[in-house]
Amino acid sequence: MKIFKSKSDLKSYISQKKQEGNSIGFVPTMGALHKGHLSLVKRAIQKNDITIVSIFVNPTQFDKKEDLDNYPKTFEKDAELLESVNCDAVFVPAVSEIYGDNVNSEPFDFDGLEHQMEGKFRDGHFDGVGTIVKALFEIVEPNVAYFGKKDFQQLQIIKKMVEKLNLPIKIKGMPIFREKDGLAMSSRNTRLTPEHREAVPFIHKTLKKARKKIGTKNVTEITKWVENQFKKHQLLELEYFIIAEEKTLQTAENFDATKRYRAFIAVFAGEIRLIDNVRFKNN
Ligand code: PAJ
Repeated sequence: MKIFKSKSDLKSYISQKKQEGNSIGFVPTMGALHKGHLSLVKRAIQKNDITIVSIFVNPTQFDKKEDLDNYPKTFEKDAELLESVNCDAVFVPAVSEIYGDNVNSEPFDFDGLEHQMEGKFRDGHFDGVGTIVKALFEIVEPNVAYFGKKDFQQLQIIKKMVEKLNLPIKIKGMPIFREKDGLAMSSRNTRLTPEHREAVPFIHKTLKKARKKIGTKNVTEITKWVENQFKKHQLLELEYFIIAEEKTLQTAENFDATKRYRAFIAVFAGEIRLIDNVRFKNN
C-alpha cells in the first residue's frame, strides 16, 4: 500500500492510474479506523480499480478544541488495517499541506440542510466538512466516494455540494455498521468509560422501540416518549431526538406516506457525544 503525505505526489499517482484506464474509489476518514470505516473501504475496493483512503483530522470541523485535541490518533494500526484489506493508497497530509497557513473554513450554502440537527448544535461544523471534502475531492478527483449513513446529515450535505458544484463524482451512502449490542461504531467509542460503554446500547434500543410506535403514536408523542426515557436514565443525557424527512432534514410534523423519514439522536455519555439514526418506517 502506498502512503502519501504530499498532495502533488498523490495527484501524479492518481493521474497515472487514470491514464491507464483505472476507476478511482475514495473514502475520506479522520482515522482511528474501525469496522464501520472498513466496510466503506471494502465496498470501494470491490467496485473500483483503485481505492484511496484519506486520514486527516480536520481542525475546521471541530467546534470544541478539546474534542479536536482528544481525537484518537492510531496511524500505525490504521495503516495495518488498510493494508489487510488491500487498499491501494492512503493519503495522510499535515494540516499545512491542506490549509497552508490559513486554517479556516469557507462558508457554504447547502440549501438549509446545514441548519438542522448537527448544524444547530455544532457551530460551523458543516462549513468545515464542506471545506475539507471539497479540497480532498479536488486532489483525488474520484469517480465514486463513499460515506456512512452513521453521519446521515453529512452524507446529504455532501450530495448537495456535489450537485451544486456540478462535480462528476458519484456519492454512495453506506449502511451503519454496529457492534453486536447495537452501538453504532465510532472512533469516539474508545473514549467511553467502562460504565458508559455498558450504558450506551440503550441509544439504539430506544430508537428501535420508538420506531415500533409509528402507527399508534404521532411524531410529538414518540418524541416525548424518547425524551422521557432519557430523563429517567442515570448516565446518558439526551441532546436531541428528532424525526425528520430524509431529503430536507426538516423536522416532521406528521407522517406523510409519500415521504421517507429518519429519527436522529445525539446523546452525551459523560464527556463523549454520540450520534445515531434509524430509518423511521413501520416495519
Ligand atoms: P469519520 O468520522 O472518520 O468517518 C469517515 C466515514 O466513515 C464517514 O463517511 C462516516 O459516516 C463513516 N462511518 C463512521 N462510522 C461508521 C459506521 N459505524 N458505519 C458506517 N459508516 C461509518 O466523517 C468523517 O470522518 C469526516 O467528517 C470526514 C468526512 C472525513 C471529513 O473530515
